[in-house]
Amino acid sequence: MKRRLQSILLVLPLAALAELGDANTNTDTAELDPLTGFKMTGDWKLVRGNCIGCHSAQLVTRQRGDAEQWLAMIRWMQEEQGLWQFDPDTEQRIVAYLAENYAPEARHRRAPVAAELMPPNPYAGKVPD
Ligand code: HEC
Repeated sequence: MKRRLQSILLVLPLAALAELGDANTNTDTAELDPLTGFKMTGDWKLVRGNCIGCHSAQLVTRQRGDAEQWLAMIRWMQEEQGLWQFDPDTEQRIVAYLAENYAPEARHRRAPVAAELMPPNPYAGKVPD
């Protein structure tokens, strides 16, 4: 009996590890830049050149987001934290790199709430652009 419990306890963390391994499979194979920890793929040098001047690269690599969320963080830093403006091409490449390599992880996602179950949007038509 005791032995059996031990083997169950051993299997659980292994299963958790296997699940971790599944996240972000497309970029998991990328080597990490020893200086910053950025995944060395695509436009990573552009990101290294623009995103580690004010804070640690870890602040970037531990964050997750889709393109819209990364762009919102950039806008916030531009408005509040003195981040410079990017030309549209540079900005698009930075956002694409971040959304591709630091995407929201599948195991944190839930299915979207069905439209008919959503409450009415109180701001509909009121938000200035
Ligand atoms: C001009 C300075 C500056 C540059 C350059 C900069 N940031 Fe930031 N960023 C900040 C400051 C200031 C904070 C807030 C730091 C803190 O809370 O300790 C921050 C916070 C963050 C955070 C954390 C946001 C949160 O909600 O916790 C992320 C992620 C981030 N930056 C990503 C980036 C990326 C990606 C780039 C490159 C496009 C970048 N930063 C370039 C100033 C900068």
